[in-house]
Amino acid sequence: MGKYNPAAYAVDLKQFPSIKTATLPGPKSQALHARAVKHIRGLSEQVRLFPVAFESGQGCTLTDADGNRYIDFSSGIYVTTLGHCHPKISEAVATYAKKLMNAHDFTSEIKVRLLEKMAAVLPGDLKCFQLYDSGTTAVEAALRTCRAATGKNEFISCFRDFHGKSGHAVSLARMNKFNGPTRSPGFYMVPRPDTYRPLWARPDGTLDTEKYLEFYDLFIKESTTNQVAAFVLEPIQGWGGTIIPPDDFFPKLRKFLDERKILLVADEVLTSIGRTGKWICMEHWNTLPDVVTIGKGFGNGFPVTAMAVRAPFAEGVDKISASTSYGGNPMACAAALASLEVIEEEGLLERARELETLFHKRMDAWKQKFRIVGDTRGKGCLLGVELVKDKATKEPFDEAGKLVYQHAFRKGLAWIPAGHILRMSPPIVMPDNAAHKGMDIIEESIGEVEKKLLG
Ligand SMILES: Cc1ncc(COP(=O)(O)O)c(C=O)c1O
Repeated sequence: MGKYNPAAYAVDLKQFPSIKTATLPGPKSQALHARAVKHIRGLSEQVRLFPVAFESGQGCTLTDADGNRYIDFSSGIYVTTLGHCHPKISEAVATYAKKLMNAHDFTSEIKVRLLEKMAAVLPGDLKCFQLYDSGTTAVEAALRTCRAATGKNEFISCFRDFHGKSGHAVSLARMNKFNGPTRSPGFYMVPRPDTYRPLWARPDGTLDTEKYLEFYDLFIKESTTNQVAAFVLEPIQGWGGTIIPPDDFFPKLRKFLDERKILLVADEVLTSIGRTGKWICMEHWNTLPDVVTIGKGFGNGFPVTAMAVRAPFAEGVDKISASTSYGGNPMACAAALASLEVIEEEGLLERARELETLFHKRMDAWKQKFRIVGDTRGKGCLLGVELVKDKATKEPFDEAGKLVYQHAFRKGLAWIPAGHILRMSPPIVMPDNAAHKGMDIIEESIGEVEKKLLG
């Protein structure tokens, strides 16, 4: 492991952030957005709230079409973990864009080097891989692998987890009427532990993991046909609001599943490859999943994802017709290999953990300072601040969340809205000054919104 060099990612705070236009979005962004919406629908909430057109990104900063400059607290959508346009990653993609763009499933040297690197950095016997081009496809492959490896066909997932937007991925998540009239047969959901809002607590109010497991046991007996192939969950919920389980949860869940011969699938599309300061997030709890999905930061912006499978279940992968048109193409492999090498060469797992300390120091003080900050949490650069109307009732404060998002964006912080939980995912390469500046902006915005809404 190398050592983080802040000079390589320096942010000049005289230039960033800097909002020059009288309105945000500025006129050029507005004009581009007006042209776009003639031809595109279904834009995310993020864009509907702030239809800015970005033009370029460098390291931890972004610039829009009007020349407004932002500090990046979103990493795209948890994707550019190593900042925008890292020279080594851009160069790697450009090399293969000129040399070999696609060779379907055939072996290439760059793919072999990537596979060997993945085998070297991932924990335990997670040594069998297949490469994909989206997180959703990797999740689908994980489900098929579990079916093939166990001969069973049911799945359990958790409330408010997110696993993608294909038929089975939405069956692992919250239904809406457009996902389908019903969840696919054999897919079931259970509550996951949330230490801020425990469903089952001990007399002192702390979350009682054993009670969750008792419920899972009853649920499997009463609601399934006892053909559960796998329990699929995000180690830390991303979309659901950075919900981190208590430290005893995963080790106990692992034992619980082993006793029932149910596989553990960690959907680490969002949490892997340095985002939380580890290669995979499950390492925080020394718990080895049987199947892991990897995405987002893996190619640092280039669409490349993976499924990793433990040795005893690797034969399952042979049975599922695992390859796809784009999975493991040479450009994708070059991007992913460069990302893994950059993390090692620049000591970035360590940097993510340093930033975690910095961010926690700042956020945790807000629980005392503000009436509307109910909880703060995070690992590495995966952070969340929960806004509530009342700290005793913990009633979610959606209006405050939306306003804080907008106030901070107007001050030059590019980030992701999520109802009453402020979600932050800065690149793990961020220097201290930009990290503090981002937190200053959020702190100021929370103060303004609290005053506006509560007086
Ligand atoms: C945990 C998790 N799984 C799967 C997906 C789907 O990934 P993609 O959007 O690349 O298909 C996401 C995307 O946000 C995710 O956060």
